[in-house]
Amino acid sequence: MALKRQAILAVAGVVLGLLGAAAQAGDRAPVGGGMSRADALREAAALTAIGRRMFSDPRLSGSGRLSCASCHSPAHAYGPPNRRAVQAGGIDLKMSGLRAVPSLTYMQATPPFALHFHESPDEGDESLDAGPAGGLTWDGRVDRGRDQALLPLLSPLEMANRDRASLAAVIEAKYGRALRAALGPAMPRGAQAALQAGLQALETFEQDVGEFAPYTSKYDAVLARTATLSEQEARGLAVFNDPKKGNCAHCHPSARNGGGLPQFTDFGLVALGVPRNTAIPANRDANFFDFGLCGPLRVDLRDQSDYCGMFKTPSLRNVALRKSFFHNGVFHDLRQVLEFYVERDVRPEKWYPRNADGSIRKFDDLPARYHENINIEPPFDRKPGDAPALSSAEIDDVIAFLRTLTDGYAPH
Ligand code: HEC
Ligand code: HEC
Repeated sequence: MALKRQAILAVAGVVLGLLGAAAQAGDRAPVGGGMSRADALREAAALTAIGRRMFSDPRLSGSGRLSCASCHSPAHAYGPPNRRAVQAGGIDLKMSGLRAVPSLTYMQATPPFALHFHESPDEGDESLDAGPAGGLTWDGRVDRGRDQALLPLLSPLEMANRDRASLAAVIEAKYGRALRAALGPAMPRGAQAALQAGLQALETFEQDVGEFAPYTSKYDAVLARTATLSEQEARGLAVFNDPKKGNCAHCHPSARNGGGLPQFTDFGLVALGVPRNTAIPANRDANFFDFGLCGPLRVDLRDQSDYCGMFKTPSLRNVALRKSFFHNGVFHDLRQVLEFYVERDVRPEKWYPRNADGSIRKFDDLPARYHENINIEPPFDRKPGDAPALSSAEIDDVIAFLRTLTDGYAPH
């Protein structure tokens, strides 16, 4: 299933990549359409430049001290610049978010959210249903960059603008003139139009291929046959792909598909049962749970308990630059992540706390009634006392391979 899903996504990725900013800007021409290709390119370039400035502009936050780049650091593949599981924000920078900051590199390949992802939307064949996939954020609750950007801008835990009107006024004051120059007379007057255009600029910037999807990792060089993996990296890739070993490629596909470069995610939303992170302030309330797909941040699937605990499979491109892993940032190095994958079911006592009676509270970040949602495919197909799917040396090999996914490879 994952492979089929990947096939169509790879094609979608290629199409997006090839058409690039010009076609996208064409799609979004504010009125009239009929824009020439040259005009569309010019508009996209102007919006990208404005979006880039906005992305690093702390004046767009209620505190005046937080920009998109504070959390999505350009020097860290647009992921968090520090080890914190969740970042500080809010009007006084004393609030904390609920989730780890994802990298924004390669997110432009993300398809729109679908509860029943089909290889071909027209076929309607249930057997091809690959389950929930796609969308932006860890729970896929928005599809477009412009809608996503409003979430942090208005969240009281993040950029904490008072409301849309005050945000619109700031964007009009700081960027209105530039946005009108970029979009021309078609752009309506007033702060609301400036807000919409500003969000469009952020979205356009996020689709800048050179910045967000450069495909300059060692692994890309290997695929282009201009580099070769070391022996250890090659062993790691084999273990990563092997359905009986890591089985990682089942959800994080590593192979070219239909000519598209691998994204290292099939965009599926899956419950892995990662341990509760007590470092997240919201988790001090024992009754608070982040259920991902079924809430509380996402509201449309609140009553569909089959989806509780599911989070989007992230791309593993640039993953070695991260210092917090999984939606709740509970782990801080890749070895811990790998050990969790291979020991979750074999040595649960290492990962979960104990109840008062000494029993292990496995999957402690999800109430027991939802445990059947949790994935049990390899390497999660084991029970206490079984041998782990990977040896310690194989874990090292996989990590060596993951390090080949960092952009900016310079052969030496
Ligand atoms: C305080 C830290 C913080 C700030 C500031 C912030 N973000 Fe984020 N960003 C996050 C977190 C946390 C998530 C995951 C949110 C979730 O799952 O609900 C996220 C998710 C995203 C995503 C979805 C990525 C994906 O692949 O699913 C995009 C796009 C994004 N942010 C863009 C922005 C933009 C644009 C801004 C500025 C307007 C911004 N962010 C400001 C923390 C931040
Ligand atoms: C059944 C699907 C599935 C399989 C198999 C799988 N993953 Fe994942 N992976 C996910 C999902 C879903 C997440 C996010 C889970 C969450 O945050 O709750 C994730 C997250 C990760 C992360 C954290 C990335 C980040 O940005 O925080 C790493 C690293 C990772 N996987 C590596 C691997 C490796 C290595 C393997 C093989 C040993 C593997 N995965 C196997 C689905 C899978």
